[in-house]
Amino acid sequence: MPCTVICGGFWGDEGKGKIISYLAIKEKLDFCVRTGSVNAAHTIWYEGKRYALHMVPGGFVHEKCRLLIGAGSNVEVAQFLKEVEETNVKNRIGVDSQASIIEEKHSAQDKASAHLKGLGTTGRGVGPAIEERVRRTAKIARDVPELKPYLADVAAETNNAINGGKNVLLEGTQGLMLSLFYGTYPYVTGRDTSASAICSEAGVGPTKVDNVLVVLKSFMTRVGTGPLPGELPKEEAMKRGWFETAAGTGRDRRSAPFNFELAKKAVMLNGATQVAVTKLDCVYPKCKGARTYNDLPSDAKQFINEIEKQTRVAAALIGTGPEALDIIDRR
Ligand code: IMP
Ligand code: MG
Repeated sequence: MPCTVICGGFWGDEGKGKIISYLAIKEKLDFCVRTGSVNAAHTIWYEGKRYALHMVPGGFVHEKCRLLIGAGSNVEVAQFLKEVEETNVKNRIGVDSQASIIEEKHSAQDKASAHLKGLGTTGRGVGPAIEERVRRTAKIARDVPELKPYLADVAAETNNAINGGKNVLLEGTQGLMLSLFYGTYPYVTGRDTSASAICSEAGVGPTKVDNVLVVLKSFMTRVGTGPLPGELPKEEAMKRGWFETAAGTGRDRRSAPFNFELAKKAVMLNGATQVAVTKLDCVYPKCKGARTYNDLPSDAKQFINEIEKQTRVAAALIGTGPEALDIIDRR
């Protein structure tokens, strides 16, 4: 594995959390570096309990994994402390001393702005906090007394780990179609969400990355406003079993069938070496719980083949249910 970047191919919520938790356990992950911010929630099932993590890296499920939050991230201190408690990772988590801080005023600004409301933001204050960072008036982690025990040099630790041959995962958030540069502007988030940006936020140069794993869900979903090609009415989404609500905000997720053109775009812009296809069982119910490729019905195999043919990368992991181990591992 040595250094792998995980990123979303669509509008977030592709199931990155599940893939990260699987790899953390399977590969005995040494380091997991989270990027992005609290607008994202990664859903992880661990020991029968569901976690929707906004701050703590998904690699927490492997108890020996060092957890880091990169300098390019935005930290909401109360949420961070709450999750550290909940996941019991106090002794193995670090925050880069230059990570930005989201303050209450940022979330108030996010919610009060008619413009941001029109974009359907999560209201967590991430956009306004990034604006403040750009103005160079933002507080950073080293200015916050509660973060003192956690301060770290994430880039140095991560590069040392990579150079020492450790298993390192850089955890992206959201998806390529929400990228400030490559997404459906202006209906996007306040940062680039591509693999390159994830590396930059973590402090890892491009030559240090071995693998870029783009996560694609078997159908597409989007929360908030903005275009969604092939969007289905809610009733149809419910009938197909594709209707979801957001892990972070509880809002309805809109849904649409898988789009090969967008998948190709995500693979190109992220420089994907592999893709993971999640929630195959939601489109092909007979797949539920399958653990080997040969257990898949032929229409599901055909779908996977088509993804590989069009994107020209291997579908290395295939999700067939919510449990971390409901996965077909073809690596
Ligand atoms: P913001 O990131 O809160 O500014 O929201 C901008 C857009 O990105 C809105 O459409 C949000 O719904 C969307 N968004 C932000 N983070 C996530 C995520 O983690 N999953 C899905 N959508 C997200
Ligand atoms: Mg999510």
